[in-house]
Amino acid sequence: MKTSPVTRRQFVKTSYTAAGAALLAPVVFPSADSQAASQSKPALLGGKPAVEGPFPEWPMIEPLDEEKFMDALRRKAWCRLYDNITTTFENAWAEKLGVKYCVATVNGTNSLYTALYALDVGPGDEVLIPPYTFVATLNAILQQYALPVFVDTDIQTFQMDPQSMAGKITENTRCVIPVHLGGIVADMDAILANAQKYQIAVIEDACQAHISEWKGRRVGGLGDIGCFSFQSTKILPCGEGGACVTQREDLYDKIHAFHNNGRDRLTGTRKGYLHQGSNLRMTEYQSALLLAQLTRLDAQCRHREENAKYLSELLKEIPGIRPAVQYPQQSKNGYYLYMMHYDKEPFEGLPRARFIEALNKEGVSCYGGYRPLNKEPFLKTLLDSRWYKKLFPPERLKQYWETNECPVNDRLCEEGLFMSHECLMGTRSQIEQIAVAIRRIKAHAKELQA
Ligand SMILES: Cc1ncc(COP(=O)(O)O)c(C=O)c1O
Repeated sequence: MKTSPVTRRQFVKTSYTAAGAALLAPVVFPSADSQAASQSKPALLGGKPAVEGPFPEWPMIEPLDEEKFMDALRRKAWCRLYDNITTTFENAWAEKLGVKYCVATVNGTNSLYTALYALDVGPGDEVLIPPYTFVATLNAILQQYALPVFVDTDIQTFQMDPQSMAGKITENTRCVIPVHLGGIVADMDAILANAQKYQIAVIEDACQAHISEWKGRRVGGLGDIGCFSFQSTKILPCGEGGACVTQREDLYDKIHAFHNNGRDRLTGTRKGYLHQGSNLRMTEYQSALLLAQLTRLDAQCRHREENAKYLSELLKEIPGIRPAVQYPQQSKNGYYLYMMHYDKEPFEGLPRARFIEALNKEGVSCYGGYRPLNKEPFLKTLLDSRWYKKLFPPERLKQYWETNECPVNDRLCEEGLFMSHECLMGTRSQIEQIAVAIRRIKAHAKELQA
């Protein structure tokens, strides 16, 4: 990673307010200067990168992080069984989301796994998921030996298409996992209505959507259980970490017990182990770090949201680049990712991979999104295994493969672009330079083909 000449502390002190004030100014772009910059030689062909100075590094470290972390370290009660920092974090995160209960875990993957366990999803059951997500959503289902059934994608929003959901429900469907990808919220009105109609549980995979909101309510608390990740790249990071949140006490009891080797939340082991379980406890120093990071989450999200709005305005003027759309019911976006569509035609047919290479050279961290999860070879291998053959009749598995196509998602996988959230933590000028970089690539698209 590049090192910023401005320290992160200096950046954090000055940039939120400066960007907030600057963003009130009307958008006048491209200026004469930036028009000239847009025509100059792309960095991939030897020109000077359009983005001046690196974007802020992530994760950010401030004195409060060091203080809280070192305090937890010195207390030597590193495991939650001997102190209460993790409980304090759980309460703070639950309050932030407006939910009753939170259990911190080792990571987002195991939060999903725990949620499936708590909702009694097991071998032989079917679970609906989008094919456009990180592989962990799929792996959590496979860990339970359930059948992952893919629902095609709404290409505009990058989210699960609720119109395709009902057709995938069978008598064995127990659960649906909408993934709020990149901070955009899936169409929760339609998904919850379908879930209620067909009596299936809803796990929100909110690993990329901390404090995103749907009609003024934070995600995670909209379905039965919400799952979060606090892995380093996430907008609330502690290295590795996760959480399950819920409004239901019965689920809270099961989640808590499962993450703590099956100890009952209220009786401990006095009556013996009442539950099955694993050890998925978060450490105390991670919780301390999260409590520190939490104090900055709102301001950072506002900064990203303002920059994202500005960038979307600038990109409107560039045919071939189309930002992902949010549903009108979404009232806040934490912006883990800035997602876009790339249409190569207005770029003289420049392949997406080459566009990405050129944009990276301009100083913008960007990549091509996900591959279709429904086509991953390991899925076929597992579903052909003797375990799955024992659990699902041959005619179900045959039909599964016959109906496994998600054509809209295939298209998205070819045209998607992800810009990481560090770019949105930059200054207003850097946001303008991103647009300059794209214009420059467009102006030189023919030469870049070679
Ligand atoms: C959508 C989604 N689900 C689940 C996970 C898994 O989280 P973790 O990496 O904390 O296990 C991630 C992590 O990137 C994710 O993006």
